[in-house]
Amino acid sequence: MTKINENFLKLKASYLFADIARRVSEFQAANPDRPILKLGIGDVTEPLPDTVLKAFHDGIDEMADRNTFRGYGPEQGYPFLREAIAAVDFQSRGAPISADEVFVSDGAKCDSGNVQEIFADDCRIAVPDPVYPVYVDTNVMAGRTGANVNDRYEGLVYLECTPENNYFPSLPSTPVDVIYLCFPNNPTGATATKEQLEAFVNYARENKAIILYDAAYVAFIRDESLPQSIYEIEGADEVAIEFRSLSKNAGFTGTRCAYTIVPKKLKGVDSSGEEIGLHALWSRRHSTKFNGTSYPVQKAAAAVFTPEGQAETRALTDFYLNNAKHIREKVQALGLSCVGGDNSPYIWINMATDSWDAFDMLLNKAGVVCTPGAGFGTCGEGHIRLSAFNSYENVVEAMDRIAEAL
Ligand code: MLT
Repeated sequence: MTKINENFLKLKASYLFADIARRVSEFQAANPDRPILKLGIGDVTEPLPDTVLKAFHDGIDEMADRNTFRGYGPEQGYPFLREAIAAVDFQSRGAPISADEVFVSDGAKCDSGNVQEIFADDCRIAVPDPVYPVYVDTNVMAGRTGANVNDRYEGLVYLECTPENNYFPSLPSTPVDVIYLCFPNNPTGATATKEQLEAFVNYARENKAIILYDAAYVAFIRDESLPQSIYEIEGADEVAIEFRSLSKNAGFTGTRCAYTIVPKKLKGVDSSGEEIGLHALWSRRHSTKFNGTSYPVQKAAAAVFTPEGQAETRALTDFYLNNAKHIREKVQALGLSCVGGDNSPYIWINMATDSWDAFDMLLNKAGVVCTPGAGFGTCGEGHIRLSAFNSYENVVEAMDRIAEAL
C-alpha cells in the first residue's frame, strides 16, 4: 500500500475552527429552539462595500463580452491591482515596496501556510504562543517538528505571550531561522509599537533570520503611533515577508483576495552558503502552483484602494470596532481583565478557568459561541477570545447573555 505523510499523524484530529463548528452544530441539533449568537470564528457579517460591488459586477460583465473577456491572468496578479496596493498600503506610509514585490492570492491563510515551502526542512521555527494554528500545523505537516508532547510540538521554539508580558513575545532565547509574528494579533488583539517591532527586525538582521509578518488585521489600527506595516521599520525589507488580506477590512472572507509582499532584497542561503533571493523562489512557487485570483475579484479588490473604497472600508472597520468597544467595556464591567478590542476586532479575556470549560459554559448557559484560548496554544489556557464580527444588536445581546451567565 502507498505510504502516507506520517507528519499528518502528529496533528490534532481536526482544525480548531472545524472542531468548534462541530461542537456548535451538535449543541444546535440537541437544542433546536435555542438561538445561538456567534462571536467565535472571525468571519465578517456585513456585505461588500458599494464601490467594491460595482467593480465586481463590471468585472463579471467584462467576462461576458468576447472583446473584454479574460482567460488566465498573470499568476502574481494584474498590474492594476499590484500597483494600487504598493501605492496605497506601502508607499503612502514611506514603506519602500514596489508593485512587483506584491503577490496577489486568494487568501492570507493559504499564503501564510504555503510560505514555509521555500525554507529548508531543518529550519528552526519560532511561533508565538498563543498562535494562529496555521503557522504551526503547516510546519508540522512539512516535518519540521517532532511529536506533540503536552500540547507543544518538539522542535518548535514557543514565544510566550502572557498577562505577565502584556501578551507581547520576547525575542527568541535560542537561535531560530524563521519567526512568525502577527499584529494586531490573532488571537489576543495585542498590538506592536514601532520600538517593539524594531527589536524583532534588529534581531532578524543580526541573526540572519526571516520574519513572517501577518498583518491581516492592520485596517483595525486607529492609534496613529502604531506601525501598520513591518516595512515602516528601517531594514525590514531585508528580513521580512508580510501577509495582507481583504477578508476582514473589505468583507472578502467569501470572495477571497489577499496579497503577500516578498521584497527583492530578502535573501536566504543554499547549503553551499550562496545567497539566494526569496522573491524569485516565491514567484517560482506561485506560478507553478497557482493560476491567479479571478479577474472580477481582482477588479473588486482594486476598488478597495480608490478613495471611495478606502472610505467605505474604513466605515466597515469602524462598525466592527464599535462592536469591539462594547464587548471590551462589558467585559471590564464584569471585572475580567482583557486585551485587544481597541485596535483589533478580537478581545482576549482572562477567565482564570479552563478555556474549554468556559467555552462549554457560555454555549450552554448563554447560547454564545466564543473561541477557547487553549485552541491557540498552551498560553491560551485560561482565556477565551470574543470576535467583534457580528451585527451590533447581536453583540449587545450576546454580552447581556454572558453577563447573566457569569
Ligand atoms: C479566526 O477566527 O482566527 C480567523 O477567522 C482565522 C482566519 O482568518 O483564517
